[in-house]
Amino acid sequence: MAKLGNGIAVIPSARVRSIESDYPQDSDYRENNDFFYLTGLETPGASLVLVARKDGRNQAVLYLPARDTVAEKWTGPKLGPEPEATRLTGIEDVRAASRAAAEIPRYGAPIRMESLEGKIAALRLVKDGDEIARLRRAITITTNALDQAMGAVRPGMWEYELEATIEYGFRRHGAERLGFPSIIGSGPNGVTLHYDKNRRKMQPGDLVVQDVGAEFGYYTADVTRTIPVSGRFTERQRAVYDLVLATQQAAIDAVRPGTDLPALNRVARDYMREHSGNLCGAATCVSYFTHGLSHWLGMDVHDVGSFGAKLQPGMVLTVEPGIYLPAEGLGIRIEDDVLVTPEGHEILSSGAPRKATEIEQFMVHKVP
Ligand code: GLY
Ligand code: MN
Ligand code: MN
Repeated sequence: MAKLGNGIAVIPSARVRSIESDYPQDSDYRENNDFFYLTGLETPGASLVLVARKDGRNQAVLYLPARDTVAEKWTGPKLGPEPEATRLTGIEDVRAASRAAAEIPRYGAPIRMESLEGKIAALRLVKDGDEIARLRRAITITTNALDQAMGAVRPGMWEYELEATIEYGFRRHGAERLGFPSIIGSGPNGVTLHYDKNRRKMQPGDLVVQDVGAEFGYYTADVTRTIPVSGRFTERQRAVYDLVLATQQAAIDAVRPGTDLPALNRVARDYMREHSGNLCGAATCVSYFTHGLSHWLGMDVHDVGSFGAKLQPGMVLTVEPGIYLPAEGLGIRIEDDVLVTPEGHEILSSGAPRKATEIEQFMVHKVP
């Protein structure tokens, strides 16, 4: 309301996808992020109306569809415009959705239309305690599943088997869905940044890039671990791995209030350039670090919020350098989720080992 100043905001909920005309098999009903952020509800056909007035007579109205006993036989009980909605949301003024079209114009004629997205994005960028708790849970589910997968991976396994092992770990621990399609790229597939076909049989000596994230309570993790399928890095793989890891550590060490994502990106690229030696041939390895270092993380994997914003406590970002050498079929990415704290930062995804030797120790029983 304070950000609106004087105006009316209408935030609709998401649409149910049709089993006949859409392809809903990849995902069940997922609420519109901004609607969920403001209400905590999953209710198709609803709208939240916020009326901010200069004189302070602000109004919040939640429009919910009336219950439909026939539809409920197919899809189960729904929340109707009843006192239960007030109890769940704290919004006192709850009305039937059938009134919305007629009533919304009466809250006051807007002078101009503007998108609310930027204003809500600014709110979503700084996470409160409840949001951080959800993120912690999503990230812990993810790192536990990666730890489990590390014990299961072996040459001859298909990428999709590893994908299924990880995703079973997510669901078994309460994740509602994936934050994004799982990327399981072994050998040459590791150089394709968003490879999610996951159809190759993993070979002895391959590395496998596992870039995955469970979603819990509408917040998603985004963690990448690159591991050797046979349980041991080759000397060459380890040398490139250690450069990616040290680059990541240099960037993480620089995370604190007041800096920003472009500055962290420079820290990482400067570090990688200075420490490349001849590891990547004539060019430095920065030429093979072909994506950005960081993005915001939250309800969306690439979460909303200005890329240039100064870091403040409560913001959550990924730090994910990589080196991709297509000529060698060698791709390495390491990605962690980092919370900005008043003192600096906290790595939320430290539950999955990152150092090459720690990964090998985890997998030691796999070594032939
Ligand atoms: N998993 C997608 C990304 O790291 O940006
Ligand atoms: Mn990411
Ligand atoms: Mn990722």
